Amino acid sequence: FPSPSSAIPLNQMLKIAHRGASGLAPEHTMVSFDLAKKMDADYIELDLQTSKEGTLIVMHDSTVERTTDGTGSVNNLTLKQIKELDAGSWFNKEYPEHARDEYIGAKVPTLEEVFQRFGQSINYCIEIKEPELNQGVEKKLLDLIRTYKLEEQTIVQSFSEKSLKKFHQMEPEVPLIQLISRPNLGRKAKKQLEAVQAYAIGVGVNMNRINEDYVKQVNERGLRIHPYTINSKEDMSRMMDWGVTGIITNFPDRLNSWLKDN
Ligand code: G3P
Ligand code: CA
Repeated sequence: FPSPSSAIPLNQMLKIAHRGASGLAPEHTMVSFDLAKKMDADYIELDLQTSKEGTLIVMHDSTVERTTDGTGSVNNLTLKQIKELDAGSWFNKEYPEHARDEYIGAKVPTLEEVFQRFGQSINYCIEIKEPELNQGVEKKLLDLIRTYKLEEQTIVQSFSEKSLKKFHQMEPEVPLIQLISRPNLGRKAKKQLEAVQAYAIGVGVNMNRINEDYVKQVNERGLRIHPYTINSKEDMSRMMDWGVTGIITNFPDRLNSWLKDN
């Protein structure tokens, strides 16, 4: 096999905070990323959408309803309109056990604001969402990574193979992870993993759709495997037993406590 990027040692089990510490604070807000950093996450995971004028916005959904008090598509809102949204109050209502006054009125960040806030003090696992809705997102992302000199501190991931290949062609040094919600298992895994290995350093897979043999096959190829989203200690134990190279979790504190106990 061609040797994968050596930028991240394979024996390093990465703690990846999914949408920040999103089990404890509103996802994709600065407070959620702050918390993830405080909890020693190796990477903060975040998703990209684009505003009407094409600015890279940090948000999971292509519409703002679920995580803000606004309505409509992110694509149809200007940055100014997006900045008026409250991205924190929904969390307090949805998760009263974790509610905090400071979450009320949390802003939707741009990717550049996240880079400005954390710079090289943390690593970034950045997901390109729906590239067909967010035209040119690959080039914009690469430009920002270069401006903030984060080439060695960023993993780019996507469910879109096309988008990852486009990114890889522009910049082969930034490591990529191919997200696959339903990976081919057993004998069918080989072909899929071989194809991924041409441009990516590993796979990000739904933890409910993999098995021990799959993790073994990925590891034997020298690829990384980052299952999502691992929130219970039981699942952490199972994934760790199987030998995954990263854990994507909404609760970096639980992962810390698991690591301390094991
Ligand atoms: O990191 C992988 C995971 O984030 C993919 O699913 O829907 O949470 O973006 P989603
Ligand atoms: Ca994501």
